[in-house]
Amino acid sequence: MSEALRDQFGRQIEYLRISVTDKCNFRCVYCMPLEGLPWLPKHEVLSYEEIAEVVRQLAPLGLRRLRVTGGEPTIRPHLERLISMLRDVPGIEDIALSTNGVRLPEMAVSLRSAGLDRVNMSADSLRKDRIEAIARRRLDFDPVASAAAAQAAELGPIKINMVVMRGINDDEIEDFARLTVAHPWHVRFIELMPVGGMRDLTWDHVVPSREVLDRVAQLGALAPDEGPARGNGPASYYRLSGALGTVGVITPMTHSYCASCNRVRLTADGRLRTCLYGDHEVNLRDALRAGHPLEPLFVRALAEKPKEHRLLQLHVGGLRALSQVGG
Ligand code: 5AD
Ligand code: SF4
Repeated sequence: MSEALRDQFGRQIEYLRISVTDKCNFRCVYCMPLEGLPWLPKHEVLSYEEIAEVVRQLAPLGLRRLRVTGGEPTIRPHLERLISMLRDVPGIEDIALSTNGVRLPEMAVSLRSAGLDRVNMSADSLRKDRIEAIARRRLDFDPVASAAAAQAAELGPIKINMVVMRGINDDEIEDFARLTVAHPWHVRFIELMPVGGMRDLTWDHVVPSREVLDRVAQLGALAPDEGPARGNGPASYYRLSGALGTVGVITPMTHSYCASCNRVRLTADGRLRTCLYGDHEVNLRDALRAGHPLEPLFVRALAEKPKEHRLLQLHVGGLRALSQVGG
């Protein structure tokens, strides 16, 4: 494999997250202020052709896996068109989508036909009133139906991400874990990161993953598991005895997984971010639009990829919302 995408700490970068929009049709309490954010003007957002060009230039350097994110990627018109363009890039083995899931019932089949391999969706509650309270939108959204639609369209392994918030949805941990008994789904409990302009969430709302697992273990024997075959992100997986799926935990608040971080991000406005946190980004868009080669910029960006983030040392409000940096 090409060494060109190895950073100064020896981490081979083979995974790119691509944000296709900074906008969203939800206003999750942990992510976005109710009034929204100052959205990017359209001309600053990369076109599908430009995104595909970045991927075409990265693929020969060792890029193998893509994840399309936002904001909410499914609200950008004709997302299928981008998926099929990415599918055509030689060397790309896996294309995943991260979505809030609300449009999966109508889009799963066409996304699959365009060449999407699999989806991750978010679901923070299984109760309609609560879903609406957390997303702060009136919604006709049944996460179980959305996951089933993705499954039926062969977009598995299906991963469902739940951000656990004490006193808000932590009483549903068991219900989410039970989904993995009957379905081949992988439910991942994420520690809340009290970041961005979140007025109503504090460190008191963080539920450590250790506590989540203790609660899941009350439901039955829980053993460590390899988890879903595809993907090698920061989750650790377990399986309830006899379950078709697994439960996972993602622990940004209590553990650092930076040492094995193999990912970089492309923001909607064409910046390559090498770490979610802090200010490590290189503007690819201007070079792209000027017709300059991108490789020197990739090399510079990787040289600046930090060894680890400083999240555990930061205080509330010090970070950009994840919707702005592509989750
Ligand atoms: N804390 C934890 N996870 C977050 N996400 C977004 N904001 C936060 C946050 N403050 C993640 C969740 C969500 C996805 C869209 O991004 O996994 O499901
Ligand atoms: Fe939208 Fe995802 Fe942020 Fe919720 S967490 S507001 S669905 S981008």
